[in-house]
Amino acid sequence: MILVAANLDSQVSGEYKANRECGARTRWLPQAVSVIWQEVTLAVQLHSDETAAEPGCSFSFKDLTDALNARTSIPSLPELNELMERAKISSAELRPYLGFKTGNYSRHRVMKNEFVEMLVLCWKPGQRTPIHDHNGSHGTVFIHDGILWETTFDYDTVTGLAYRAHRELRGGGLTGSEVPDIHQLGNPDVSGRDLITIHIYAPPLGVLKTYKLGSSTIDLYTPADPDFL
Ligand SMILES: [Fe+2]
Repeated sequence: MILVAANLDSQVSGEYKANRECGARTRWLPQAVSVIWQEVTLAVQLHSDETAAEPGCSFSFKDLTDALNARTSIPSLPELNELMERAKISSAELRPYLGFKTGNYSRHRVMKNEFVEMLVLCWKPGQRTPIHDHNGSHGTVFIHDGILWETTFDYDTVTGLAYRAHRELRGGGLTGSEVPDIHQLGNPDVSGRDLITIHIYAPPLGVLKTYKLGSSTIDLYTPADPDFL
C-alpha cells in the first residue's frame, strides 16, 4: 500500500502512473517513489506485497500505448520486454490495426514518438521479411496469434552472411533483437493460418540494413509506410 499526502498526478511520470494502476507493474516503482520523496518529501509507505499482482489488475493495449507515449527517453530492451510481457492484449483492442494483403505482409503503426514506436504486423502464410538488422534500434516482438519463424545470422566482412540458428514462436511468445542482431521473421507457408505480431522499436526504425546469404554486401533500405518491418 502507498500513502501519499499530495497530488501525485502532477508529480509522477507516465510510467509511474501506469504502475500505480497495477501492483504487478512495480519494477519502476521504487525509483518513482524515490524521486517523489526527494522532490516533495511525501510520506510514503511501501510494503513488500506491493509487487504482488492485485485481483482484477490489468494492463491493456491502451495502457501499453499510453506508457510508450509518455516516454521521455529511449527504453532499453529489457524495459520493452517487461512492458510487452505485462500487457494483456485482446483481439478487440487490436481490431483497428488488423488487415492482411497479398504479396507482402501488412504493417500498421500504433504510435511513434522521438524515442519509441509500436506497430502491429499481419502476415499471411508464406510472407516474411528480408534478412535485416535494425541499424541501431533494438526491438521486441510479441506473437499475438499464429506461428512465427525467426532465423538469425552471423555476419563477417570477409566470409559474408552465414546461418546461425532458427526457432519457432507461437501465440504468447516473445522475442527481442539487440543491436546488431541480424534476423529474418516470417509466417511459414506450412502454418496454414494467419499471423499477428506486435512490435516495439526504440528508437523508431530508420534506414535499415539488408543482407544476402553468403554475401558480404550490405544494402540500405528505408521502409515505406506501411510496408516493411
Ligand atoms: Fe526485425
